[in-house]
Amino acid sequence: MSALTRRLLLERLGAAGGLGAAMLGLRAMGVAWGAAPSPLPALPAGHGVGRKVIVLGAGLAGMVAALELRKAGYAVTVLEATDRAGGRCRTLRTGDVVTETSGATQRVALSPGLYFNPGPARIPHFHASLLRYCREFGVPLEPFINENRAALVQDDAAFAGAPRTLREVQANLRGVVAEIAAKGLARGAMDGAVTVEELERLRDLLRRFGALDRDLAWRGDLRAGAAVWPGAGDAAPEAPPPLDLHQLLRADFWAYNTQHAEEIDQAATMLQVSGGVDRIAAAFAERLREVIVTGAEVTRLRRTETGARVAWRDRTTDTARAEDAHAVVVTLPGPILAELDADISAAKRDALRELLYMPAGKLAFEAPRFWEEQGIYGGISWTSRDSTQVWYPSSGFHASRGVLLGAYIWDEAPGRRFAARDPAGREAAVRADLAVLHPGVDPLLQSAVSVAWGEMPFQKGAWGEYTAAQRGTIYRAIHRAEPPYVFAGEHCSWLPGWMEGAVLSAHAAVAAIATNR
Ligand code: ALA
Repeated sequence: MSALTRRLLLERLGAAGGLGAAMLGLRAMGVAWGAAPSPLPALPAGHGVGRKVIVLGAGLAGMVAALELRKAGYAVTVLEATDRAGGRCRTLRTGDVVTETSGATQRVALSPGLYFNPGPARIPHFHASLLRYCREFGVPLEPFINENRAALVQDDAAFAGAPRTLREVQANLRGVVAEIAAKGLARGAMDGAVTVEELERLRDLLRRFGALDRDLAWRGDLRAGAAVWPGAGDAAPEAPPPLDLHQLLRADFWAYNTQHAEEIDQAATMLQVSGGVDRIAAAFAERLREVIVTGAEVTRLRRTETGARVAWRDRTTDTARAEDAHAVVVTLPGPILAELDADISAAKRDALRELLYMPAGKLAFEAPRFWEEQGIYGGISWTSRDSTQVWYPSSGFHASRGVLLGAYIWDEAPGRRFAARDPAGREAAVRADLAVLHPGVDPLLQSAVSVAWGEMPFQKGAWGEYTAAQRGTIYRAIHRAEPPYVFAGEHCSWLPGWMEGAVLSAHAAVAAIATNR
């Protein structure tokens, strides 16, 4: 196809079908950037007419499956145990109530307009299937600042526990690594592997990579921050001296933060939903209003001659109910499904029992934006203490108040310690950690609210955390269809703990229903 014909075709596709059609055209011509959304389950219209599917769970996976099945003509009911659709895709605002399995209850007291996403919050650019729904539903997105080198890192083992900026630590680690490599080059480490000209190029790379001096030594640089900030007239900037190498080596900085924004799914800039992540859930719930039944706690699953019978308890009226379906999409979180009275295979149940559902948790405060006075606009500070991550708002700069995520704990041991405390105990622990990162701000922190996912009824965890070995052992048993049951949820994907994982697993479940009928 000539360039001109291509251009004309694309213009017409764009004019007739909008961006989606033009992009499909480009992809068909072999031009594609980044990840394409997974194709929607290709079910012929009317494919499901006369067939009934019950979906267990109105989280994202359940709602995506319900939406796509309805498009193909299936009759769908979605049973949701809690009193709201969305599952972990949740946003807390003033007046909301968080009740844990223990009965511990918190009423959110954030000022009107402020909100807190206790579950998913950031979206990678390549989560194209989730983003396609956001585009289609008009869910507004804005930048999420995932790395900000003006934010802090703190490790109790180094620098007397005092925080440093990410910028200083990054610059010093790179400086040290580049100098070591340059010394290796000088001793002939790459002789024979590259030409003499290439050797010179490598030296240049290292000089720039580490901000080394002309003699290839790391002696500090303004990229590490400033001992004296630049000003007018005679106010020349001064770089801080290099950090003490012994102190740097004592800290776990590279293990728990400096690599963070290098990961494909944790880029320096990401996306978030303006106004709260639950706008995604709300967009689905709105389209499924007549088929979602809340307060419906599934109690029993049994195969029948024609499919399955799902029994549930209506929690509002405390009555037992049951309904038959040709197929059931099971999106219950691992720990819930593992203990359900259901005729699933023993292999699946054992696998679910083995899978760690991460007891991650978050705690938020409302506060005047003191971090912006410190030059921190968005991003994350990291601490070796249990609080792990402190998130500053990526929007609303210079508003009088904001929501500071005082702790986002995503490892098992600190997560369990967090969960074991009552909300007041968690708040006290997070305040103590914040006092190290931001001394003196304690009186400014108000209206704490925490969610420890392991303590949330009908969720019992934040996401399925597979070890690499478990992908080869239990994973298949967990996601495999056992007709008439098909399974979905982030734990049935290679993107656990991401909304995209829930979406992709739902598409796979819908395709499996079509294949198994
Ligand atoms: N996907 C989750 C996060 O970004 C685990 O924190």
